[in-house]
Amino acid sequence: MTDMRVSGQDYKAGCPPVDGEMLEDHGAAPEDGDDQVDPWSVSSSSAKGVDYDKLIVRFGSSKIDQELVDRIARVTGKTPHRFLRRGVFFSHRDMHQILDAFEKQKSFYLYTGRGPSSEAMHVGHLIPFIFTKWLQDVFDVPLVIQMTDDEKYLWKDLSLDECHRYAVENARDIIACGFDVNKTFIFSDLDYMGASPAFYRNVVKVQKHVTFNQVKGIFGFTDSDCIGKISFPAIQAAPSFSSSFPQIFGERTDVQCLIPCAIDQDPYFRMTRDVAPRIGYPKPALLHSTFFPALQGAQTKMSASEANSSIFLTDSAKQIKNKINKHAFSGGKDTVEEHRKCGGNPDMDVSFMYLSFFLEDDDQLEKIRQDYSSGALLTGELKKCLIETLQPMIAAHQERRRLVTDEIVQQFMSPRKLHFNC
Ligand code: TRP
Repeated sequence: MTDMRVSGQDYKAGCPPVDGEMLEDHGAAPEDGDDQVDPWSVSSSSAKGVDYDKLIVRFGSSKIDQELVDRIARVTGKTPHRFLRRGVFFSHRDMHQILDAFEKQKSFYLYTGRGPSSEAMHVGHLIPFIFTKWLQDVFDVPLVIQMTDDEKYLWKDLSLDECHRYAVENARDIIACGFDVNKTFIFSDLDYMGASPAFYRNVVKVQKHVTFNQVKGIFGFTDSDCIGKISFPAIQAAPSFSSSFPQIFGERTDVQCLIPCAIDQDPYFRMTRDVAPRIGYPKPALLHSTFFPALQGAQTKMSASEANSSIFLTDSAKQIKNKINKHAFSGGKDTVEEHRKCGGNPDMDVSFMYLSFFLEDDDQLEKIRQDYSSGALLTGELKKCLIETLQPMIAAHQERRRLVTDEIVQQFMSPRKLHFNC
């Protein structure tokens, strides 16, 4: 949706918005040649993908540096997830605060979400959920997952029934990632907004404290966007506050929230963090991930609407093999002779990038990087390695999904008490 670019103009440093309010975590205005990153589109002109260090500066977030990764290891007593070791989650807001409190036995909760725009989920969609599952395990905290079927109805040409059905079908894939039913609440906005007065009250509070001018600045809305879109950010903000879930947190309005998400969702939470203190709530902390590249190259992210750019969670072993062999952009040389002589470029190679997301063994990954760079490993061999990593992973996902019955989905999606030790 190209008319949805983040203009950011109102929040340019030294240039306060017209109504005089300034976001504390503001992003600077994008300049010519900058990568485009907003909730509706992501693109870069570089085959290596988005320049994430620049994005941290532009968005005003903080880098997840080695010190923070070591601290997470110390506090949890667990080896950091490969997504932390390899910089897949690369940026944060207030993670040290979460850890400070956790060390003093003060708990928190996790919030993430998914916009269910189709039945087809791809491997890139799993990244935040795989990581959130790890966070839930190592910190032993409750988790809420928002399925924004309302958002997809407002933005896409889909009926309410279709969006709601996709929310439930996608929830099945999310459950298949292994979440603990005693600690996880998955909700469809279309269902929960009407069923929970506490949730709706928080939506209204946020709506009262954000002006049209502000959402225009943050999201690039225009006068011709429907009012549903304009007020939607308040609905994505509300789960960041523990009082939206009295069945989980009782009377507590002060349980802090940690949101793992892809960095394109940050505009929603810059807004949320700006509003939070003004309505008496703690600001949510954030962990941001990079994007999962399209098969054709890291200039764009994997997209379910482009079948050839994606490996779907429903693909067969054969389809996975064919797609990778046919479409995965290679950083190798044109001929074997040249490749042997000069070596390939792993930083532009989509198969290598995917392996860095999914291959668990650090030493094996490093050896692949070296052998590919030296020319000892050919593109076909690298692709074979990726195929052999993804095939069993996706087959295992399909098997776990098969076991997620309607009753199990129902259980996850019913508002209820969760295990929570504050
Ligand atoms: N807007 C997100 C999407 O389209 C869905 C979402 C809602 C979300 N709440 C979230 C994602 C919190 C990450 C964290 O996919």
